[in-house]
Amino acid sequence: MLSSITILTLPALILASPTLHKRLANGLALTPPMGWNSYNHYNCAPNQSIIHSNAEALVSLGLADLGYTYVTTDCGWTIPHRTADNKLTWNGSLFPAGFPALGQYIHDLGLGFGVYSDGGVQMCMTGGVNQTGSLGHEATDAETFASWGADLLKYDNCYSSAEKDFPNVDYEPLTSPHQNYVNMRNALDATGKNLLFQICDWGVDFPSAWAPELGNTWRVTNDIIPNWRTIFRIVNQVVPQTDHAGPGRWLDLDMLEVGNNIFTHAEEQTHFALWSILKSPLTIGCALNDSFTSVSASSLAIMKNENVIAFNQDALGVSANLTRRYSDEGYDVWSGPLSGNRTVAALVNWNNHSIDATLDLPDVGFQIAGWVRDAWTNETRKNVMTSCKASIEAHGTLLLELGETVPAGVYQLDGAPVSSPCNLKVNKQGSSYQISTGQSSVTLPVTLIAGNNNTLAISTTSPIESITITPPNGTFYPNTAFTISGPGNASHITCVPGLCAPLGVKIGDLSPNNSASLTIPASAKAVGSRYVELTYINNDVAISTSWGEGRNARNITISVNNQTTRLEVPLSGRSSELYSAMKGWGDSAVLGVLVDGWKEGDNEVVVGNVGGEKGVQSLGADFVGLKVF
Ligand SMILES: *[C@@H]1O[C@H](CO)[C@@H](O)[C@H](O)[C@H]1NC(C)=O
Ligand SMILES: *[C@@H]1O[C@H](CO)[C@@H](O)[C@H](O)[C@H]1NC(C)=O
Ligand SMILES: *[C@@H]1O[C@H](CO)[C@@H](O)[C@H](O)[C@H]1NC(C)=O
Ligand SMILES: *[C@@H]1O[C@H](CO)[C@@H](O)[C@H](O)[C@H]1NC(C)=O
Ligand SMILES: *[C@@H]1O[C@H](CO)[C@@H](O)[C@H](O)[C@H]1NC(C)=O
Ligand SMILES: *[C@@H]1O[C@H](CO)[C@@H](O)[C@H](O)[C@H]1NC(C)=O
Ligand SMILES: *[C@@H]1O[C@H](CO)[C@@H](O)[C@H](O)[C@H]1NC(C)=O
Ligand SMILES: *[C@@H]1O[C@H](CO)[C@@H](O)[C@H](O)[C@H]1NC(C)=O
Ligand SMILES: *[C@@H]1O[C@H](CO)[C@@H](O)[C@H](O)[C@H]1NC(C)=O
Ligand SMILES: *[C@@H]1O[C@H](CO)[C@@H](O)[C@H](O)[C@H]1NC(C)=O
Ligand SMILES: *[C@@H]1O[C@H](CO)[C@@H](O)[C@H](O)[C@H]1NC(C)=O
Ligand SMILES: *[C@@H]1O[C@H](CO)[C@@H](O)[C@H](O)[C@H]1NC(C)=O
Repeated sequence: MLSSITILTLPALILASPTLHKRLANGLALTPPMGWNSYNHYNCAPNQSIIHSNAEALVSLGLADLGYTYVTTDCGWTIPHRTADNKLTWNGSLFPAGFPALGQYIHDLGLGFGVYSDGGVQMCMTGGVNQTGSLGHEATDAETFASWGADLLKYDNCYSSAEKDFPNVDYEPLTSPHQNYVNMRNALDATGKNLLFQICDWGVDFPSAWAPELGNTWRVTNDIIPNWRTIFRIVNQVVPQTDHAGPGRWLDLDMLEVGNNIFTHAEEQTHFALWSILKSPLTIGCALNDSFTSVSASSLAIMKNENVIAFNQDALGVSANLTRRYSDEGYDVWSGPLSGNRTVAALVNWNNHSIDATLDLPDVGFQIAGWVRDAWTNETRKNVMTSCKASIEAHGTLLLELGETVPAGVYQLDGAPVSSPCNLKVNKQGSSYQISTGQSSVTLPVTLIAGNNNTLAISTTSPIESITITPPNGTFYPNTAFTISGPGNASHITCVPGLCAPLGVKIGDLSPNNSASLTIPASAKAVGSRYVELTYINNDVAISTSWGEGRNARNITISVNNQTTRLEVPLSGRSSELYSAMKGWGDSAVLGVLVDGWKEGDNEVVVGNVGGEKGVQSLGADFVGLKVF
């Protein structure tokens, strides 16, 4: 492949422009809020002694000192009906001292008092019990919570749609729950008290598009469930929306299951690592201490890991995102920037067996890291060049902090003096270039061979600061150039103007039985494994299937000369799955993947869903195009 090298006398600098979103600015949650909530362990059956003993444990176990300060009593605290003056009140047999006293108790421990209500006609409850919700009573309820000294309101979404005969959970309401949250936002403002507002509509109607101006946090997915498969489902939904997170506004991945004896130690680490680096609120959901149980030392150690908490609470406030996915190998690479020119990188092993994995630094944007710290062991390695190897437990995560990094493709030299003029040899083939006086960099084309070790030998009298190798521009092959064959409904679909970028057309309904093919020529230098960027569309939002096998993912395969690479893509939708023009099926995304099988001459490239019948979804992701490098 033809690349170019730039020999620079200054290190390269990469600048990113921030995306700005309209947002709430109430000065709260400048870093993701941390605390404890009763729901994951106690369901809708909290009571005073439960809240007291867990709040005390937050303090005595040292969690409060690490930032876990909000204590929220979730569903089940109230009674079926309002009081004579139309207010919500607590269940006196469960909370004999009452809610104002509960708030005082929590405040006396130095903690924040979190309350819970629901934007619908009734609250979420179990066992066929009904409890009145806040719909139509927003002003009264906000005033009540403020008068009790509440610091935080979690606002749920059960029975939000009266039109559909009061279903408990309605994932496809006739009207968006958005207005219920606007109403409560206005009601909270009217109290004159500043409450942290946690929106919990389970991701219905793509709240990242409207919630940042209403709340400090918003749930992006349906509930976390006590099963390992829930982690993959949740993070796949977060991928297209990570850029909506920022100081004062955070994507809520739901409360933690760490400590609930559902996951192995490695699984709990993966769960906590992903929640931390994706900047989710860290809301402990286990029984820290009650009359039956207390949290295990190993789970506690995970939640108290200061390295990992620091990723979550980092002052920069930028979420990590999915950088590369190796579906056939079963692992992901996630990464994101931290303050102080540091980076966090996570290699997540989805296999239920341990793997020896290699984190290629260029996959997270770097060539060299001056130091790399393992967040779990706190061990630091110095001068890590190009890659980092580690053994990762079943369902575990290698979690690294990187500093003193050098961008991918940049090789820093010592500036050692050499001879004149500039002689460049690539794989022993040489040329000579003249450098003019005063010239600070020179850019030269070089031919590197994919998959090989290439040697660059440079000699010049000018001291060299660094060399930068820029990969060639890829060639984009649009889906419109591909020919569809095989039975089934696969077809080219014209999208609503502006969608299915960059083409306005996609291929939908790829199945195990049909596919789209194109002949792509390749030179002798571009054989074997090549980097390919896939532009795809997937908005298979697993809301109603989230207790089952819903994964928020679809497979797509790229076969080159019958050698098949599978990529299980996350969601790409960045608009409402219910009310937008194509229900999120017009929002495209790009993910890179190494594709093997290339040979010199014509290559048969087939996009489809080979083996799709073995998956949860036999239809593949929609296909927009391939960029081959
Ligand atoms: C747990 O609760 C018991 C009973 O109130 C108390 O003796 C113990 O100190 C508590 N442990 C922690 C870690 O808070
Ligand atoms: C209070 O909670 C208890 C225990 O769940 C329940 O039996 C009782 O009916 C509740 N009281 C009211 C007024 O709802
Ligand atoms: C509170 O809940 C705990 C644990 O479920 C239970 O043992 C206790 O009896 C409950 N207390 C009240 C007052 O309901
Ligand atoms: C709860 O409310 C629904 C809808 O109004 C009603 O059909 C149901 O009978 C109620 N259940 C109880 C136990 O009151
Ligand atoms: C995700 O991360 C990659 C690599 O760091 C970056 O290029 C991309 O812009 C990020 N995407 C979003 C949506 O933040
Ligand atoms: C981060 O890197 C930039 C560019 O090299 C440098 O100007 C800045 O001082 C660095 N910041 C910190 C906190 O190290
Ligand atoms: C992972 O493997 C272990 C032991 O081999 C097994 O007990 C467990 O059920 C497996 N987990 C999943 C999610 O398949
Ligand atoms: C990790 O090591 C650093 C020194 O590299 C030290 O400052 C820090 O306290 C250690 N952190 C933990 C959690 O052990
Ligand atoms: C490239 O060099 C490394 C280190 O010397 C070696 O392990 C590897 O096998 C070489 N790869 C090829 C394709 O020659
Ligand atoms: C690669 O693409 C960029 C931007 O699209 C363009 O500026 C540059 O000239 C291209 N380089 C080559 C070698 O085609
Ligand atoms: C791929 O496999 C099919 C079916 O076995 C065969 O007809 C075709 O020639 C193969 N293509 C290549 C490029 O080997
Ligand atoms: C993707 O393929 C793998 C391997 O066949 C399968 O386990 C998984 O369920 C598939 N994903 C979907 C969303 O169908």
